[in-house]
Order: sequence, then structure tokens, then C-alpha cells
Amino acid sequence: MTSANARVAIVTGGVGGLGGAITARLRADGFRVAIADIDAPTAADSGPGTEQTLMVRVDVTDPDSAAAMRDAVLGRWGRVDVLVNNAGIAGPTAPVTAYPPGAWQRVIMVNLVGVFHCTRACLPPMIAGGYGRVVNIASIAGKDGNPDMSAYSASKAGVIAFTKSVGKETAKTGVLVNCVVPGVIDAGLTDKAPEEERRLFLSRIPMGRMGRPQELAELVSWLASERCSFSTGATFDLSGGRAVY
Ligand SMILES: NC(=O)c1ccc[n+]([C@@H]2O[C@H](COP(=O)([O-])OP(=O)(O)OC[C@H]3O[C@@H](n4cnc5c(N)ncnc54)[C@H](O)[C@@H]3O)[C@@H](O)[C@H]2O)c1
Repeated sequence: MTSANARVAIVTGGVGGLGGAITARLRADGFRVAIADIDAPTAADSGPGTEQTLMVRVDVTDPDSAAAMRDAVLGRWGRVDVLVNNAGIAGPTAPVTAYPPGAWQRVIMVNLVGVFHCTRACLPPMIAGGYGRVVNIASIAGKDGNPDMSAYSASKAGVIAFTKSVGKETAKTGVLVNCVVPGVIDAGLTDKAPEEERRLFLSRIPMGRMGRPQELAELVSWLASERCSFSTGATFDLSGGRAVY
């Protein structure tokens, strides 16, 4: 594909640790990539981007901001083929009885409601074009439940259920909706976790090591491509053997 008709991907949270690896991989795969993040510089700050890259400031918790993100990408390239819902926050680590209600709600807003807003914004052009790939980044916490991370675990369980639901809705449209379920990847949120928590995470991984961001990007690359053709509403663990239902 030449760059004029190369497929277009949006990666939310694209400025972050895993987002950076995903955007680098998609660019290497030949995609034009919109790096969409609450921390992205505005177009005025960053210039028009490159032929292959666009920076878009988005707050995924705001439906108008999600629609503006889609419109910025359509305005620039005229299409949206792939949405990687990757933006996320861990929130505080605290037992449920001590968890601040505002922080609990914020984690659900970013990690789950944000996936809804961005998917809702980007599905129509994909369905109209008869092709699309939505890749949601959940977490093994959504299957296993990390102690003292009730908001994060509940939000990621919600992302898994959302994926299964929407994957069925769009199954006959050419748009596939799948979900990656990472264990612990050595970047991003893991870098920010206290040492004690990192040790606990590591102790649960049968392979005895954390995942590499490139290993996550490899799976996203496949799910974002035409090579993935008979999977939708599916969850793909990337956990070094930490398998849970
Ligand atoms: N790092 C891991 O081990 C790990 C494991 C499992 C799942 N995940 C998931 O991977 C995803 C990426 O996490 P990461 O580890 O790269 O963390 P990160 O903090 O490096 O990146 C998250 C990005 O999301 C952006 N963001 C936060 N709130 C936003 C909002 N309201 N609107 C738009 N962007 C927003 C941040 O600015 C940041 O760039 C998250 O969904 C996380 O839950 C990470």
C-alpha cells in the first residue's frame, strides 16, 4: 500500500509506555497513525505532524472529545480503519473500604466509559466502509482481580465484557472487535508501581519474567490487520502463562 491509501489507525493513550510501542509497530507495519492522548500536544503546539503521524489531544472520558478525535483523523486522512483503545489509568492502590469514591469513579470513566465513547465515535465510518479493527487493551486484573485494585479490576472486566458484546453486534459488518489481556508488561503503569507491587506481580508469572512492550505490540499488530479474519469478541491473553478465566 502506498502512503496515500495506507490504512489509518488511532491509538488512544498513544503517548504512554505501551502506546509508544504500539504506535511504533503500526507505523512499521505501514499504517498512518493518530497518537491520541490527553497528554498529546495540540496541533498548534506540535505542528501538522508528519505524513504518517498525527497528534490528537483527546480526553476519552468526554464523548464530544472522542467525536472530535475521530473528526480530526477523518479531516486529515478521510478514513479510520483501526482503533486501539489503550488509554488507561491504575488509580490508587487501597482496600475497597478506604477507596476514595471519586477516584473509583474516575478509573471506571477512563478505562471503561472511555472505551465506549471512542468505540461509539469510530464505529460508524468503519461500518460504512465495510472494514475495521477495534483492539481493546484490558488486563489480567479484569479476569483475576488484583487485591487493592478494585476499580482497575472492575474496569478491565468491563472492557472484556464490552468487547464480547460489541464483537457480536458488528460480526457481519467487516469490523472485528477484540481484546488483549496483558499480564504485567515492563513499561508504562508497571514502571509507576511500587517495588513491592512489582515483586508481587512478578511472583505470579509462570515464565518468571515480565512481558516486553514489543511482545504486546506484536499481538496488537496482528489484531489490527487483515491477517486477523475469523476472530471477533475474543480475548487474547499475553501473560507469560498466568491463565485465569
Ligand atoms: N503496563 C502494564 O503492565 C499493563 C498491563 C495490563 C494492562 N495495561 C493497560 O495498557 C494500557 C496502557 O498503559 P501503560 O502501561 O502504557 O500506561 P501509561 O500510563 O504509560 O499510558 C497510559 C496513557 O493513557 C493516557 N490517558 C490517561 N487518561 C486519559 C484520558 N482521559 N484520555 C486520553 N488519554 C488518557 C495517559 O496520558 C498515558 O499516555 C492501559 O489501558 C493499561 O491499563 C498495562
